[in-house]
Amino acid sequence: MTNIILLGPPGAGKGTQARHLTDSRGMVQLSTGDMLREAQANGSEMGKKVADVIARGELVTDEIVIGLIREKIAEGAEGGFIFDGFPRTLGQADALGELLAEMGLSLDAVIEMAVDDAALVARITGRSTCGGCGEVYHDETKPWAADGKCTNCGSTDVKRRADDNEDSLKTRLMEYYKKTSPLLGYYYAKGDLTSIDGLSSMEAVRDDIAKVLG
Ligand code: AP5
Repeated sequence: MTNIILLGPPGAGKGTQARHLTDSRGMVQLSTGDMLREAQANGSEMGKKVADVIARGELVTDEIVIGLIREKIAEGAEGGFIFDGFPRTLGQADALGELLAEMGLSLDAVIEMAVDDAALVARITGRSTCGGCGEVYHDETKPWAADGKCTNCGSTDVKRRADDNEDSLKTRLMEYYKKTSPLLGYYYAKGDLTSIDGLSSMEAVRDDIAKVLG
């Protein structure tokens, strides 16, 4: 069992690689972004509360996301967890350490997907996902098939996120540098951090992650 964090700014490719790891290694992806979007789609009170915050590109409170993660960790995962977009603050990182310890689990690796900010605008503004299965596409680097069907599940439901625009991205990046990037030092000091080049092709990034996981 391997538990890892994928760490990187918006558009670094965390979700893309997490999906591959769930398919290839039977790991469980815990994306707080996906959980929050699901809460919005279900029309829950929490979902309504966070909708504007997410659209603006700001972080929701630690209390909310730690609660979401606590529930999922309690369900367990034989193949291990991939934490995607969590933790994002030092408070969340401390909470994750405590939650894992309570379950008798540990963190095996924190993988920084390092990217150049200039590349992120194109990645974010070109992104779409399949409404049927969540497969991640990009207008240029991973376009939908000519028949408009998802290559994974056959759905034709193309979704674009409300926060995938240049204005929200500026705020998301600022939030990343102010609140999330200190985690690089935090995990480096703990001896858990490995950095890989997130600007390489999807396949090369996949190989680099495989090398870290062994
Ligand atoms: P979240 O959903 O976590 O978004 P994010 O961190 O901004 O990350 P993204 O999903 O935008 O990017 P990604 O790194 O997964 O990239 P992807 O693989 O899709 O969070 C959204 C919001 O929810 C936050 O802003 C916040 O408000 C809230 N939130 C979530 N978690 C929170 C927390 N813990 N605390 C507080 N608030 C929280 O790739 C992007 C595109 O690039 C795709 O089109 C893909 O096809 C393409 N691509 C990927 N890899 C490559 C490659 N190697 N080469 C070329 N193209 C590539």
